[in-house]
Amino acid sequence: MQTNTGRLTKDGIRIHEATDFAGMRTAGALAAQILDDIAEHVFPGQTTGEIDRLITQWVQDAGATSATIGYRGYQHASCISVNHVVCHGIPGDKILKDGDILNIDVTVIVDGWFGDTSRMYVAGTLSRKSERLIEVTHDALMKGIEAAKPGNTFGDIGHAIQLYAESNRMSVVRDFCGHGLGRVFHAPPNVLHYGRPGTGPILEEGMFFTIEPMINIGRPETKVLADDWTAVTRDKSLSAQFEHSIGITADGCEIFTLSPGNKFHPTYQI
Ligand code: MF3
Ligand code: CO
Ligand code: CO
Repeated sequence: MQTNTGRLTKDGIRIHEATDFAGMRTAGALAAQILDDIAEHVFPGQTTGEIDRLITQWVQDAGATSATIGYRGYQHASCISVNHVVCHGIPGDKILKDGDILNIDVTVIVDGWFGDTSRMYVAGTLSRKSERLIEVTHDALMKGIEAAKPGNTFGDIGHAIQLYAESNRMSVVRDFCGHGLGRVFHAPPNVLHYGRPGTGPILEEGMFFTIEPMINIGRPETKVLADDWTAVTRDKSLSAQFEHSIGITADGCEIFTLSPGNKFHPTYQI
């Protein structure tokens, strides 16, 4: 049986070894490939349940395992969060209509390694307002990734994201965060998408974690619906999210969940 190697920092963050990057690369590539392939199945009239059914099938076809099926009672291979749903939208009978924007979030396990990524899609025509939200959210994630290098802190990442989103008059969701991952789904630290420069744990080579900012057009507050999963904006404003799994290298970071077809950036669909 394969177990964790490497050491833990005083904050409980695992420092992975050079060989562990290969495992994350494979898992991340599968999750990203699935998100590439699902793009053509997002259109008005489609149900979120059918999208999830395809993803479930593709994870199985790849000989991989869905990290979310059975996770705390969750029963699907993806989370699909439409319009004012911030995250953890449950796939089902909901029919997509023209102009809907949605985040699809997939986490797979390959050889024990977790690959976790999400991005935004549009059903049909994209409004200018939605386009701007999606663009700002994507770029906010990339600002966070630019700050992800040895010697910087987790606060530097959060600050970069917050500064960018708020400079564009949008708000950062505080109620959900990114997370360490590797041979586990959710590990320390909590990766906040807001913060002050120089605060929080110092980034070290070998740390693996996600950055997954949720940005709202309106206010940042959220609430969880009676299904105990679906998180929505309290003011019903539109919300967007992008997520990458990354590993800190000697001089920056490696993105494990890069899109093989270069379809991660929203302009691919615009
Ligand atoms: N993939 C999500 C994340 O980014 C977690 C989903 S857990 C689920 O951390 F149970 F809702 F699927
Ligand atoms: Co995640
Ligand atoms: Co995710």
